[in-house]
Amino acid sequence: MKIFLDTAEVDKIKRFAALGMVDGITTNPTLILKAGREQKEVISEICKIVDGPVSVEGACQKAEEIAKEGEEFASWAKNVVVKVPMGEEGIKAVQILSKKKIKTNVTLVFSAAQALLAAKAGATFVSPFLGRLDDVGEEGMELIRQTVCIYRNYGFKTQVLAASIRSPVHVVGAALAGADAATVPPDVLEKCFRHGFTDAGIKKFLEDYAAAKKRG
Ligand code: E4P
Repeated sequence: MKIFLDTAEVDKIKRFAALGMVDGITTNPTLILKAGREQKEVISEICKIVDGPVSVEGACQKAEEIAKEGEEFASWAKNVVVKVPMGEEGIKAVQILSKKKIKTNVTLVFSAAQALLAAKAGATFVSPFLGRLDDVGEEGMELIRQTVCIYRNYGFKTQVLAASIRSPVHVVGAALAGADAATVPPDVLEKCFRHGFTDAGIKKFLEDYAAAKKRG
């Protein structure tokens, strides 16, 4: 499973890219706001750090406007992927952008029916939001499982990008469900490296190593 980082914060991207753990990036208006930088400037910098897909989202609602803005985003770097909100206008925009060979990521997907339509429209990625479903008492992981199953049944090329990931449990669940990628916030990726037993084990081995050295 590919790991995308769900952030526009360059220092965090550099940190995990140096570990070889960043296959791509996803951003959205909230993450751009959090990064505190102008969108084009920060996306252009991110695209120089990461070779993989970098998803960029605007705020247009009409298909033609989404597509026009998407073309502008795609001119910033060769690895830009245009995030398109799910819906009739979004699906139209995916078709316009696909004809222009511009990659798309259909976002804000909350049902398998939406995921099916995104694939039929030719989206490059689909982003089912599992954490936000969990938040309202639905089982987000079931949406990932259903989407993977439907795409496999019909050989759709659209890649399943598990989104709205909130914990290492979500990362593992997405991998078990067969998601092509998961977009993981930096704090969750950091947690994936750690385990209390690992820390305790290292501490004990260090103490015993020092004691054995002292004894000779
Ligand atoms: C996906 O591309 C979105 O940027 C993100 O995963 C949304 O996550 P959230 O529900 O934690 O905001």
